Amino acid sequence: MLAICLLILILLLTLFVYTQSKGFKVVRYRFVNKKLKVDHFRFALISDLHDQDHGNYNEEVLKALDREAPDVVFFAGDMVTTSMEPRYHCDVALRFVGDVAAAYPLYYGIGNHEEKLRRCPGKFPGEYDKFVSALRDMGVSMLMDEKVSIEEPGIDVYGLDLEHEYFRKLMINHIPGDYLEKKFGNPDPDRISILIAHDPEHFDNYALWHPDYILSGHVHGGIINIPPFGGLVSPQFKLFPKYDAGLFAKDGTTMILSRGLGSHTIPIRINNKAEIVIVDIYRE
Ligand SMILES: [Fe+2]
Repeated sequence: MLAICLLILILLLTLFVYTQSKGFKVVRYRFVNKKLKVDHFRFALISDLHDQDHGNYNEEVLKALDREAPDVVFFAGDMVTTSMEPRYHCDVALRFVGDVAAAYPLYYGIGNHEEKLRRCPGKFPGEYDKFVSALRDMGVSMLMDEKVSIEEPGIDVYGLDLEHEYFRKLMINHIPGDYLEKKFGNPDPDRISILIAHDPEHFDNYALWHPDYILSGHVHGGIINIPPFGGLVSPQFKLFPKYDAGLFAKDGTTMILSRGLGSHTIPIRINNKAEIVIVDIYRE
């Protein structure tokens, strides 16, 4: 009898974790920003796909994007996965990037997994070059310490290419205070500045540069969300990460931190649905 009860409990628990981990949702944020040169601008933020397929090459994600009809789409890194995989592949990610880029202007900031692909050619021979050239052929703007301007709404987008030393897992090595200024100069105070920065851990120092918005991911919402404490653990095994998901504001800068669209290493999510983020900015 005890064995049967235990079995039922395990089955129920498995079902619970499975349903919690499956699927995705659409999360919305709205801002008013007087620097906007049009009445309304809508963008989608997607991070941390990790080559995951939500079914038929992410058909439902693409349909959800089409329903929202954003002006542009921003990717905040880690669309591929380079750890805990028996063999590297990026078929799903490439297909997804291609599908999104065919429908929307797509700006892609890289994460630690793309950085690792580039840093470890011995482990992933030729894969980084293949990935980057495929993206360029698709017309994707890959922003590696680069700025691009979206003229009509008056928006400057900066894609941060964070060095490996600042992606440390346990002992955080914070970026210097003048790090972004040295890379990009100063943002134009008359235009909206958006910084795509995969790792939210450096938020305090990003905010010293005073961008309007920072788009981040990396933490996967802390995998298991326990209210009121928030995310339990990051994929970097940091317990109760300070920045897990949602909005964080400091000195006029707002960080929009996505829970991500996929997972790796710990492939579960509880009370922490995968998401795509839709952001509306209004002039007034
Ligand atoms: Fe990451």
